[in-house]
Amino acid sequence: MSRITSSAPGKVILFGEHFVVEGQPAIAIAVSLRAYVTVEPTQSDEIKVYSKNFDLTETFPLNQRDSWTGKMTPVAVAAYTAMLEADKKTGLNIHIDSQIPPGSGMGSSAAVAVATVHATSLALGLQLDPRKVSDLAYEAEKVVHGKPSGIDNTIATFGGAIAYRKGEGFIQLKPIFRGVKLVLADTGNPRNTGEMVRRVLALKNTYPSILDPIYYSAGKLVVEAAQLLEKGDYENLGILMNINHGLLSAVGVSTKEIELLVHTARENGALGAKLTGAGGGGYIVALCRENDAEKIISALKSHATNVLTVNLEEEGVRKENI
Ligand code: MEV
Repeated sequence: MSRITSSAPGKVILFGEHFVVEGQPAIAIAVSLRAYVTVEPTQSDEIKVYSKNFDLTETFPLNQRDSWTGKMTPVAVAAYTAMLEADKKTGLNIHIDSQIPPGSGMGSSAAVAVATVHATSLALGLQLDPRKVSDLAYEAEKVVHGKPSGIDNTIATFGGAIAYRKGEGFIQLKPIFRGVKLVLADTGNPRNTGEMVRRVLALKNTYPSILDPIYYSAGKLVVEAAQLLEKGDYENLGILMNINHGLLSAVGVSTKEIELLVHTARENGALGAKLTGAGGGGYIVALCRENDAEKIISALKSHATNVLTVNLEEEGVRKENI
C-alpha cells in the first residue's frame, strides 16, 4: 500500500444537459483544468479528507458508514467504494487540490470522484479498468445529486470529446477547433446540481405532453451538433448552441444573470452562447472566432466574476508521478 496522486479533467457540456438525465444524447468535452487527489493509506480506522480549495478537513469513521454527513461525504464514498472493490478496509488520508471552479457546472465533483477512485484503488494495489473507475465514481455522484446521467464521471474518466447517452454509453468524437475559442464566463452565483435536476424532472412530470417534444427536439439537436463539430462548421454549431440555450430556458434553468452573459457574448460577436451544466447559476459557454475573442472576453468581464478560455483535454484520469 502506497501514497498515490491521480488527476482527472473538468468538462464543459456543449449540448444536451438536463435532457440527458431522461435518456437523450448529450455532448461533453474535457477541458484543461484538473482535479488532483492524493490518497495515502493509514493505520487509523477513518477516512480523513482535506480540501485545499475549501480549506476544510472532515473525518469519516469506517465503521459508521450510515452516519456520514458533511461536504466531503461524496469523496469519502468514492474512496470507500474503491476500498470495497479492492476488498481492503483501511484508514486513508485524502488530499484534494482542484483547478476546476467548484459549483461552476464544470464537473468539479465528478473529476474529484473519478480521481479519488483511481488513486484509492492504486494505493490499495488494485489496477481498475477505466470503465470500472467511471462506474464506481458514479456511485459517489449519486450522493451529490440523486439522479445523475453519468455523463460527468464518463468524461472525467475518458477525456477528449464524447457523445453520451444514459444506459447506452458513449462514443468518442473528433471535434475540430480551428480558428475558434471556447470562452467561459461565471455568473458568480453558485448552484446545486441535484436541486436543478429535481426541479426539471418535476416540471416534466407535471407537463409531460408539453415537455416531451422539447426533450425530443434536444435529442435531435445533439445528433446534428455532433456532425457539425466533427466538420468544424462553427456558424451552424453556434446557431444550435443558441437553440439549445432556448430549450434550457424553457425548462426553467436559466436566470437573469445567465441571460445577461449569454446576450453580452452574442452581441459582441460570439457565434453561439448557452449556459453549461445544471444552470441556476454557474458558467455560460460561448463559441468565438479567434479574432473576436478579445472583444467578447472584455465585454463579458464587465458582468462576470470570472472569464476564462479553455482547451480540449485529450487525456482522462491518470496517475501523477509526484
Ligand atoms: C450536470 O453537469 C449535467 C446535468 O445534465 C446533470 C447530469 O447529467 O447528471 C444537469
